[in-house]
Amino acid sequence: MKIIPNNKNSDFVCFIEGLDISEGISLSDSNKIDKLINKYAVVVFRDQLITDEQQIEFTELFGKIEKPGNNSSVQKSTDRRLTSKMADVSNITKSSTVYDRNDPTRIFNLGNRLWHSDSSFKKIPAKYSLLSARTVAKKGGNTEFADMRAAYDKLDKNSKSIIKDMVCEHSLIYSRQRLGFDMKTELSDREYKNFSPVLQPLVRIIPMTKRKLIYLSSHIGKIRGWLREDSMCFINDLMEHATAKKFVYIHKWKINDLVIWDNRQVMHRVRHFDDTKEYRDMRRTTILGEEKLI
Ligand code: OGA
Ligand code: MN
Repeated sequence: MKIIPNNKNSDFVCFIEGLDISEGISLSDSNKIDKLINKYAVVVFRDQLITDEQQIEFTELFGKIEKPGNNSSVQKSTDRRLTSKMADVSNITKSSTVYDRNDPTRIFNLGNRLWHSDSSFKKIPAKYSLLSARTVAKKGGNTEFADMRAAYDKLDKNSKSIIKDMVCEHSLIYSRQRLGFDMKTELSDREYKNFSPVLQPLVRIIPMTKRKLIYLSSHIGKIRGWLREDSMCFINDLMEHATAKKFVYIHKWKINDLVIWDNRQVMHRVRHFDDTKEYRDMRRTTILGEEKLI
């Protein structure tokens, strides 16, 4: 196993070579990878031709799988293309067509174009995400990652003290509202209830590395005890700071890439591609966090 940091002078993003995930990974190698995810926050493997079963087996080496449920999508389970252990972040329907422009599932998935941390809107948010590229777009469709540890370190003293004990409300309702998708009118009252906001701290510490970071996400719509409008001004400013170029790695997908990121430590977003024409088949498995944070 060979480890190649993306940048010699930073501990953000590394490439791992010399492993074939389809052959199965030893416990000692998975322990090493786990440490690398904690250290680098984004870990990239190239040329991993794997089946869904192999991806799931590999994922389970790092913890419990988080199943996408009725609180993470507007899609009916009978319309799912993939097994219940995977999140389908492709633009492909069960009958192998691309989604129409006005399909609610497509519109909902556009939320991935906003900077976010996976499942920050769940009581126990996601730990790692593993995304496998089965078909890539010819143009566009890069995924960008922003390092929330570096963003925290570069805050001034005053900002650090303001956010020290801040608690934020996260919900898919808030992120979709940013796009103009109003879940209140699109969903029934019962469906809407699944998306009630949850509380998360704005500052986190990673137990293994003891590094502090800003736990940001477009799912945030309110700071506890603040007006919603004041909250949005404050959070938008922090977002701007935290997603400056110097904190961002741009991943240009090649077929059979597998990228693991640590949702505790980074935000990510996918960029535009011609999604009503081109196929982009991306399959995600997700590791559940270990505990409620609040
Ligand atoms: C995700 C996601 C990014 C992408 O899988 O969580 O946000 O590149 N997708 O499709
Ligand atoms: Mn995501």
